[in-house]
Amino acid sequence: MSDLGNLAAFLDEGWRHLQQGVADSQSPARYPTFATVSPEGLPEARTVALRHAAQAEAVVEVHTDILTPKVKALKASPRAAIHVWIPRSQVQIRLTTTAEILTGKAAEDAWVQVPPTSRVSYGTMPDPGTPIKEVFGYKKPPVRDRFAVLHCRVDHIDLVHLGERHRRAEYVRSDGWRGTWLAP
Ligand SMILES: Cc1cc2nc3c(=O)[nH]c(=O)nc-3n(C[C@H](O)[C@H](O)[C@H](O)COP(=O)(O)O)c2cc1C
Repeated sequence: MSDLGNLAAFLDEGWRHLQQGVADSQSPARYPTFATVSPEGLPEARTVALRHAAQAEAVVEVHTDILTPKVKALKASPRAAIHVWIPRSQVQIRLTTTAEILTGKAAEDAWVQVPPTSRVSYGTMPDPGTPIKEVFGYKKPPVRDRFAVLHCRVDHIDLVHLGERHRRAEYVRSDGWRGTWLAP
């Protein structure tokens, strides 16, 4: 547990949880909720797997299929919110990000590390979200050109810790992070 009254330590704790999510598939931070705004202006949220979290660069990354509706949403509005709840630590992490969609050569380093059994997540036919006649009326070939890295630059972080006395802080990225305690 961090020094309870220290904003920087609380921020480090938030990033530590995110990094734990990348490293450990059993961590609750491995599967955040990823929220976007649809081209029609509606909120949309879904579970994703957290693939990268770099505190120094203020970046988190998610992998996806470029034909999923979330990519269409990000092309219309690149802002994405990411939410994680860590029950054991009683910590909620909320990130507001600006997502860049990396494909082709820009996604090559990530693609080579995707195990062959997981590559089938990128290439579903017909396109993800298309109505199908039967429950299993689709195929899942791995399609390299459908793979994308959502490179999310973190702009704002809201952390809540439910302790004996609750703690909440927000951090705004400018030159480094400007943190402020908030009423929980
Ligand atoms: C545990 C879990 C992990 C998932 N991980 C991802 C992921 O990393 N990337 C992804 O695009 N979809 C992932 N999905 C599927 C999405 O939740 C969603 O169903 C799919 O991407 C279509 O979303 P969209 O129509 O909002 O674009 C995951 C689903 C579950 C249940």
